[in-house]
Amino acid sequence: MRCWRTLLGAAAAFASLAVDHPADTNVTMSCCDALEAASLRVLRPGSEAYETRDGSYFSISAQLGPNCIVQPVNTAQVALAVTTLKETTCNWAVRGGGHMTWARASNGKSKLPSTIKDGVTVDMGRVNDVSYSCRSKIARIGAGALWADVYAALEKHGVTAPGGRSSTVGVAGFLTGGGNNFYSSRVGLGCDNVVNWEVVLASGEIVNANKDSHPDLWKALKGGSINFGIVTRVDMQTVRSAELWGGQVVYPLETTSQHIDAYVRWVDNIPDYTAGSAVTFWAYSPYAGTVVATALHDTSNSEWAPAYDDFKNIQPQIQDSLRHDSHLNMTIELDEPEGYRQVWITITGKNDARFIRAAVDAQAKFIKGWQASKDAEFLNYITFQAMPTLLFNHSVQKGGNVLGMDRQKDNAVLFQMQHMVRSADDERDARKQLIELNRDLVNYYTFEGIHVEWEYLGYADGFQDPLGSYGAENIAFLKDVAEKYDPEGIFQSRVPGGFKISAVA
Ligand SMILES: Cc1cc2nc3c(=O)[nH]c(=O)nc-3n(C[C@H](O)[C@H](O)[C@H](O)COP(=O)(O)OP(=O)(O)OC[C@H]3O[C@@H](n4cnc5c(N)ncnc54)[C@H](O)[C@@H]3O)c2cc1C
Ligand SMILES: *[C@@H]1O[C@H](CO)[C@@H](O)[C@H](O)[C@H]1NC(C)=O
Ligand SMILES: *[C@@H]1O[C@H](CO)[C@@H](O)[C@H](O)[C@H]1NC(C)=O
Ligand SMILES: *[C@@H]1O[C@H](CO)[C@@H](O)[C@H](O)[C@H]1NC(C)=O
Repeated sequence: MRCWRTLLGAAAAFASLAVDHPADTNVTMSCCDALEAASLRVLRPGSEAYETRDGSYFSISAQLGPNCIVQPVNTAQVALAVTTLKETTCNWAVRGGGHMTWARASNGKSKLPSTIKDGVTVDMGRVNDVSYSCRSKIARIGAGALWADVYAALEKHGVTAPGGRSSTVGVAGFLTGGGNNFYSSRVGLGCDNVVNWEVVLASGEIVNANKDSHPDLWKALKGGSINFGIVTRVDMQTVRSAELWGGQVVYPLETTSQHIDAYVRWVDNIPDYTAGSAVTFWAYSPYAGTVVATALHDTSNSEWAPAYDDFKNIQPQIQDSLRHDSHLNMTIELDEPEGYRQVWITITGKNDARFIRAAVDAQAKFIKGWQASKDAEFLNYITFQAMPTLLFNHSVQKGGNVLGMDRQKDNAVLFQMQHMVRSADDERDARKQLIELNRDLVNYYTFEGIHVEWEYLGYADGFQDPLGSYGAENIAFLKDVAEKYDPEGIFQSRVPGGFKISAVA
């Protein structure tokens, strides 16, 4: 772990040296001056606070060195930042936990003269209060909080929230994309448990969106991401938090076939056992080669419930971290190595062994090719996550979201690959290769009749089109809601980062 931190520090220092100062710096600096003149806290390049914040994006790819970072501390200051920036010529980005992996999803950019105006980052990290009402069992969460903050605050009250499975993921970015969690089979995706969003619109107006007030915006934000305004507070239904039982079990690669069969059976059995979560993954590292592992988390705290029998029976098991522990500790265990440039892709398919098999084979082939032509220093993980119809029945019951997965009649599985490299050149090559790998897999799945039209926004790379995979009805709805709440299209044109509904055909 210490090794990653050292490398991360070095990379951040390098990034600051690499910041260009093109001719129209004055224009963008005046945007930052305007924010400062409005008495907002502004971090400038060269300051320690700025370098730390820019260096804290999970993927090095997203550490872009903006002209400045503005840090509002409450909703009123977020509104002030929006109205101030609107009067300038600068574009801006909105940052939560900084975990979207591709460049410009959540960071302003100053390195390229052609995008000099995209120079400001609105950093929500200080809008992070968490409070809890024992009577309503609802948590009020500052949109810039990290899930670690949320779990730590809520566990004192014996409850937790269906949030990120890594502790450092941000609340608003996660929830406005969907939010798969350990409790999904019981309560649905994270977004389905949001009872109210407090949002700053492009006008500077502050609205509450819930089932009674602005219900269209409430629903649109459940998957619609950064297209309508800046979320400042999320009110969320909590779940009782006894400890969980679980951890990770690691097996040799030779057990691959057994794992594929076990996972398909696991997904189909979910309606009969909603307390558990299982994510099976194939992980490559230079030290261990590729191994298979399953992350098991039982929210009823039972050890080896019968639903897990298949995973229990696969032998040999190289190691495991199974134990009783808090939700927070389980998510800390799943925090991922930092200091890499990350390229992620995602595809969804029917719950069918061919879906998993083809992706596992594609990973093996990709890794072999990469090893033959590149530095040995890289990591590659692929995960499979259950997307059963039950999950989207929860969505419908809780008011609906815009993901479009309620169209599916069959249980589905989500595939995600993350490739982790050190250099910008390797990132470019990886993206080129993964665009092809993605296309080949989708073609094969389509041919076999097992492709599902859905790209999970939280795992999609910038070349993918998650909003475009939500189905015609949801796309039209999202365009209408964006137009209604942001008639000038500020969140399309002046906030160009992230997935944009205006870019969907
Ligand atoms: C290590 C790791 C673990 C993960 N684990 C899970 C998991 O268990 N389950 C899951 O479903 N996904 C998971 N994800 C995916 C994750 O949900 C997405 O990457 C999510 O977008 C991250 O949100 P963030 O706030 O940290 O990121 P950011 O990069 O800060 O933001 C992501 C997007 O949301 C927008 N945004 C941020 N804050 C706001 C706001 N206040 N209002 C409006 N828009 C905003 C940003 O502009 C950006 O476009 C994981 C990702 C990583 C890297
Ligand atoms: C730089 O901006 C200031 C206002 O912030 C303006 O007064 C000045 O003329 C600008 N200088 C140039 C060279 O454009
Ligand atoms: C969580 O981890 C911390 C630090 O290792 C430990 O002190 C604590 O007891 C753990 N919590 C539970 C519920 O086991
Ligand atoms: C989900 O809802 C559909 C439609 O109401 C129903 O046919 C299906 O059985 C439900 N699935 C589960 C697992 O409850």
